[in-house]
Amino acid sequence: MEQELHSLAAEAKAHLEALTEAGQLEDFRIKFLGRKGDFSTIMRQLGTASKEDRPRLGQLANTVKTEIEELFEKKKSSLQSSATTSDDFTKPDLTLPGRRPQTGRLHPVTRVLTEACAIFENLGFSVAEGPDVEQDYYNFEALNIPAHHPARDMHDTFYVSDSILLRTHTSPMQARIMEAQDPPLRVIAPGKVYRCDSDITHTPMFHQVEGFFVDKNVSFADLKGILTVFTEKMFGKKLALRFRPSFFPFTEPSAEVDIACVICEGKGCRVCKKTGWLEILGSGMIDPEVFKMVGYDPEVYSGFAFGLGIERIAMLKYGIDDIRLFYENDLRFLSQF
Ligand code: PHE
Repeated sequence: MEQELHSLAAEAKAHLEALTEAGQLEDFRIKFLGRKGDFSTIMRQLGTASKEDRPRLGQLANTVKTEIEELFEKKKSSLQSSATTSDDFTKPDLTLPGRRPQTGRLHPVTRVLTEACAIFENLGFSVAEGPDVEQDYYNFEALNIPAHHPARDMHDTFYVSDSILLRTHTSPMQARIMEAQDPPLRVIAPGKVYRCDSDITHTPMFHQVEGFFVDKNVSFADLKGILTVFTEKMFGKKLALRFRPSFFPFTEPSAEVDIACVICEGKGCRVCKKTGWLEILGSGMIDPEVFKMVGYDPEVYSGFAFGLGIERIAMLKYGIDDIRLFYENDLRFLSQF
């Protein structure tokens, strides 16, 4: 038994020394110090030892047990303290690279809208904003589009009630401003407009910038001049403009304006459908009927007006082929601008 106690002590010592993780401690305790462990097994022989040997063996057993327990406790505290050191996340690791704060950025539509306004402001236009929820009167009636006029069909209007609607264009601002102010006027009105329409070139909400200029002797040449400067500044290069005769009830004559395709510069490609031209706005000379409704004398004053589609311009400027991307809030798309 004496021999066994000595070799148990040696074995336990070697075992403890080999332990590397706090998780192994409990196994060690069960094997050597547990109630059914090696030490207890040896102790069971004490009863069979002779009377003379028993006290000495008992004392030896006590010493061996205390020794193992002490070594065990020592190992335990050393493993636990080293575990907390390596897992200590509260101390900053000063060698790590710094964290960059994520910066937001302007939506591409906002960028083009702001840029368009800035260009017109530099040309002497002032900015006015009007309501998205508009009266039928300003959206249609005051713009020479009476009830049942076929031009209303083009607008795919969202009605709120019989006389209230979501504006289908920014042109109601022409009537609102002219009603409230006398010429000369040089105004742009940016904002959201709504039409019940959705496909790769239409969203139910989009943005326009309305522009109008009213004074004595304003001519179509002034309209051409302003739009030429605008497109050159917006696209950063001189682009040919094409005025195509068109019809709007509130302008006469009217024209839709195309720019030479920004991708192929007029040679013909997929984006311009081989025509070499891209439509960007509607425009014309303000109709005398509109002047009469706001109390201006059409014999004295003349003016031009235009309405730019902002998403359209953003698509051309950034080479985007589906308008819906602007409104899906996909950061992979938005963070490119
Ligand atoms: N309001 C017209 C539209 O939305 C565009 C336009 C504006 C045309 C001003 C002529 C003059 O289609």
